[in-house]
Amino acid sequence: MTGKPPRGLARGLTNYGDADFALYLRKSFAKSMGYGNAMLDRPVVGIACTPSGFNNCHRHFPELLEAVKRGVLAAGGLPLEFPTISLGEVFLSPTSLKFRNLMAMDTEEMIRAQPMDAVVLMGGCDKTVPAQLMGAVSVDRPAIQLVAGPMMTSRHGGERLGACTDCRRFWARYRAGAIGADDIAAVEGRLATTAGTCAVMGTASTMACIAETLGLCLPGTAAIPAVHADRLRAAEATGTAAMALLRDPVRPTEIVTRDAVENALRALLALGGSTNAVIHLTAIAGRAGVDIPLAWLNELSDTTPVLVDLKPVGEHYMEDFFAAGGMGAVLRELRPLLNLDCRTVAGETLGERLEREAGPVDRTVIAAASAPFEPEGGLVALFGSLAPGGAILKRSAADPALFEREGRAVVFCSLRDLAERIDDPELDVAPGDFLVLQNAGPKSPSGMPEAGYLPIPAKLAAEGVRDMVRISDARMSGTAYGTVVLHVTPEAAVGGPLALVRSGDRIRLSVAERRIDLLVGEAELERRGRALPAPQDPSERRGYDRLYTEEVLQADRGCDFAFMLPR
Ligand code: FES
Repeated sequence: MTGKPPRGLARGLTNYGDADFALYLRKSFAKSMGYGNAMLDRPVVGIACTPSGFNNCHRHFPELLEAVKRGVLAAGGLPLEFPTISLGEVFLSPTSLKFRNLMAMDTEEMIRAQPMDAVVLMGGCDKTVPAQLMGAVSVDRPAIQLVAGPMMTSRHGGERLGACTDCRRFWARYRAGAIGADDIAAVEGRLATTAGTCAVMGTASTMACIAETLGLCLPGTAAIPAVHADRLRAAEATGTAAMALLRDPVRPTEIVTRDAVENALRALLALGGSTNAVIHLTAIAGRAGVDIPLAWLNELSDTTPVLVDLKPVGEHYMEDFFAAGGMGAVLRELRPLLNLDCRTVAGETLGERLEREAGPVDRTVIAAASAPFEPEGGLVALFGSLAPGGAILKRSAADPALFEREGRAVVFCSLRDLAERIDDPELDVAPGDFLVLQNAGPKSPSGMPEAGYLPIPAKLAAEGVRDMVRISDARMSGTAYGTVVLHVTPEAAVGGPLALVRSGDRIRLSVAERRIDLLVGEAELERRGRALPAPQDPSERRGYDRLYTEEVLQADRGCDFAFMLPR
């Protein structure tokens, strides 16, 4: 044995008390897969590959995997793929967020436990990208992400359709009686017709763009449609780049710095991206020891223009964004606001990348910084007596006419209560009321689902009401829209002020002042607080459900587990 650090299959040997035996045994078993000595002596690039029969968004991963392997082989490495759990957004109950931390742990431990010199992370569907990045940052071995890429759009009659903003648009029309059962059945078959992630700037696309901005995937790759040959070439290049990371190692914690996180927040705001991305970026940054106070988000939001016109906020789809210039065009416009010295997996700094790039930009999709679609960022954090730890509003997806107002609370104490009463013709609700949902936060039994986009009560929808102020400790799909106040912290299940709201209370929302306040006297709130039932004892649960309930942090800490943060 030489004094060099072990490489390839010689890394992290199985502990038999005899290292030479362990390597001999490992190579012997590897040979059973048909590899010769020349291959087994190469550096190893692990590929965390996440196809699943329960994940439509990753159905093209077998073909992408072959391209990644090609890139690794051509650069002199040995590519070895391995599975981790995969999170298909709509196939998981109660909600995919609950399993993001499980996938992060799975990814981290499999990178650490298996002999690989670098890793390619193949993810895409909403929670898979943050999960893989959280795990990779924690293990801190050279890592590069390859995202799935967005779906292509489809057609229904004369209309262009793409998951999942149009899913919600048509469902709202169906609920309001504007279209019938035949129409909605036809739309169901046209919303998601190719491989890839949702076709709009939802959570998956936002996280892909954030990964590119952070410098954790190759430049220009976030928005390539899933089914384009360009994506296969990006996969091949990603495999090659993983090998380059071995010659010039840059670790994830050297990439996910405070400056890079600030760049990512700027990108999120300029994209009018998903509210979920605030939670996920907080969790990824937290693994690198970088905190994201929500006040920081507001500071950046005030000075970052909205530069893209994509659904759910605008008119276009991800394939249009790619054709318009993609993330590179956005970053070039943001350049004066960005920290350009940040390192990337491509072996260059962000500034060097932007210096090198040029190209035509379709200004109907990606605006110039001098003529933005909105002068301020798409997301804003609210604070006040109803949300002492903060709440999030996607103002770019909301109705400004509802931004400065006081309303009467109509309270639903759980998701079940919401389902049972929201369409009750006897429900006491008017268009100017604020709909409030309690007990849908991270520690609630529902695990913080994307239920914050409360449906407009059927009787109001039928009258033509399209938006109302909605407040909850839940999340909202990145593909949804409306005046929806989310992630209220602390949540109701831990006794936050949200738990104390009663129907008929007055609530004041002021986006200008960044405030959300419950207008109820202290004494009355104290009385209500004393009458709250004790939180459910997590020890009544078992397994991962118990671990999650006991350890999950609030939304302002990224819903990570406390014990996964760096010490
Ligand atoms: Fe996978 Fe939307 S369901 S990204």
